[in-house]
Amino acid sequence: MMSYSRIAAVDVGNDSIKAIFGKLDSELNIPNVIARDIEDRPVIGIEELDSKDPLDGIHVRVHSPALMDNNAIYRIGNLATKSNNATELDPGSSKSEEDQTLVMLFATLALDAVSAKNEKTFPKNKNVVDANYTLGTGLPLREVKEGKDAGYRSKLLGSVHQVEFLITPKYQGIKVNIKFDEIKVYPEGFAAYINLVLDNNGNIINKDLIDKRILIQDIGGLSTDIAVIKNRNVDDDKAQGFNLGVSEALEQIREEIRSKHGIELDSRRDVVEIITKKNDRNHIMVRGSRTSVHDITDRILLDLAKKQYRLLRNVWQKNSQTEICYFVGGGSTVLKEYLKTLNNNLDGYNIDFFEDEKESIWMMANAYYKLIADYVKKTGKDKESKDQQKPVKA
Ligand SMILES: Nc1ncnc2c1ncn2[C@@H]1O[C@H](COP(=O)(O)OP(=O)(O)OP(=O)(O)O)[C@@H](O)[C@H]1O
Ligand SMILES: [Mg+2]
Repeated sequence: MMSYSRIAAVDVGNDSIKAIFGKLDSELNIPNVIARDIEDRPVIGIEELDSKDPLDGIHVRVHSPALMDNNAIYRIGNLATKSNNATELDPGSSKSEEDQTLVMLFATLALDAVSAKNEKTFPKNKNVVDANYTLGTGLPLREVKEGKDAGYRSKLLGSVHQVEFLITPKYQGIKVNIKFDEIKVYPEGFAAYINLVLDNNGNIINKDLIDKRILIQDIGGLSTDIAVIKNRNVDDDKAQGFNLGVSEALEQIREEIRSKHGIELDSRRDVVEIITKKNDRNHIMVRGSRTSVHDITDRILLDLAKKQYRLLRNVWQKNSQTEICYFVGGGSTVLKEYLKTLNNNLDGYNIDFFEDEKESIWMMANAYYKLIADYVKKTGKDKESKDQQKPVKA
C-alpha cells in the first residue's frame, strides 16, 4: 500500500528546535529543554487542559529502539523550563548521540502529526495516528566529519518511534507512530550556504555568491560554527566548531540584573527581549520606574563580541582568500551592532548580517527544507542516491 509521506525539515538547535512541514504549510519552534518525569504529573482539570495551548504543556512518553532510555516520560519545552530538573544540551556533547535530540525530534513531529490541520493527512484510528515523514535535518560539521551522520540516520530509519501524549492539552491520550520514508542528514554549515544560494524550487538566487569563497559564522545558543565554503562545497578540513554561544552571556546579564536591581527575569528569552526590543531597548521597570541596564548589557555583550571577533580573525587568517563572511544564528542578531563596531575599529573585514532576525534564526531549517523538497521533487525513483553534499549545479 502506498502511504503519504509528509516533508519535515527540522533543525535541532541547542537553544530551540525549528521545524518546517509539508508544502511550507506549518512550522514549529520549541525550546530545546526536557525534564524526565519520575511519575505522572498530577492531573489538572480536563477543562483547563483543553483551554491551554498544547505547546505549553508537552508531556509525553517516548518509545523507540533508537533511544538509550526507552519508554521514559518527559516534559518538553515551556513545560520543562518550569521544572527543577530540566536539562539542556551540554556544549561538549554530540547531538547525534543524545537521547535529548531524538526526544525533541519525535515530539516535534508528533505535534505536527496531530495538529488539526493534519486530520486528513494522517487519519486517526482509535486515538492512534500513523505518520510517515521524509526528513531533512542536520548535524554539526564536526559530527558529520566523524561519520556520525550515517549511524544517526540508520537508527532513525530502521524502526517505528512512538510518542504518546500524556497530560497535554487537546492531545491527551493520542499515540503517534512515526516512520521515516527517507532521511537526509546535512552538515550545518553547508546547509546555510545552500539557503543563501538556492530558492525553494532549487533555483539559484544568488549568482554573485555561488562561486565566492565565503565564511558562515553561525552563533547559536551554546556553540559557534564557522563553515568555509569553496568551489560550491564546504571545506571539511577548514571548518571549525567552538563551544561558545550566547546563552552564557544572557545568563550572566540576567544574574547581574538580579543582583543589582533585584529584578528576577524568568528566562534568557526575557533578556533577549530587553536587548533587542525596538522601543526602550536596554531598559527595565524597577518598582515602576524606567531604569537603564545598558551598563550591564554593554559590558557583557561587548566582551562576547570580542571573543567572537577573535574566532573570525583566526579562521580568516587561515583562509586569506575569503571574500565575505555572513553572520547567522540568533547570536548574530544579539551581537550585530557590537560586531559591526568592532570590525569598523579593527580589521574592516567584509562581513554581513541578515536584517530580518527570523531569517537569521531559521537559516538552517529553511536550508533543510530547500534540500529535502528538492530531493523529493527530483527523486521518487532515485531513492538510493547519496547526494548529501553534491556541489550546487549552476
Ligand atoms: N528573535 C530573537 N532575537 C534575538 N535573539 C534570539 C531570538 N531568538 C533566539 N535568540 C537568541 O539567540 C540565541 C541562539 O539562538 P539560535 O536559535 O540561533 O540557537 P540554536 O540554533 O538553537 O543553538 P545552536 O546553534 O547552538 O545549536 C539563543 O540564546 C536565543 O536566546
Ligand atoms: Mg543553530
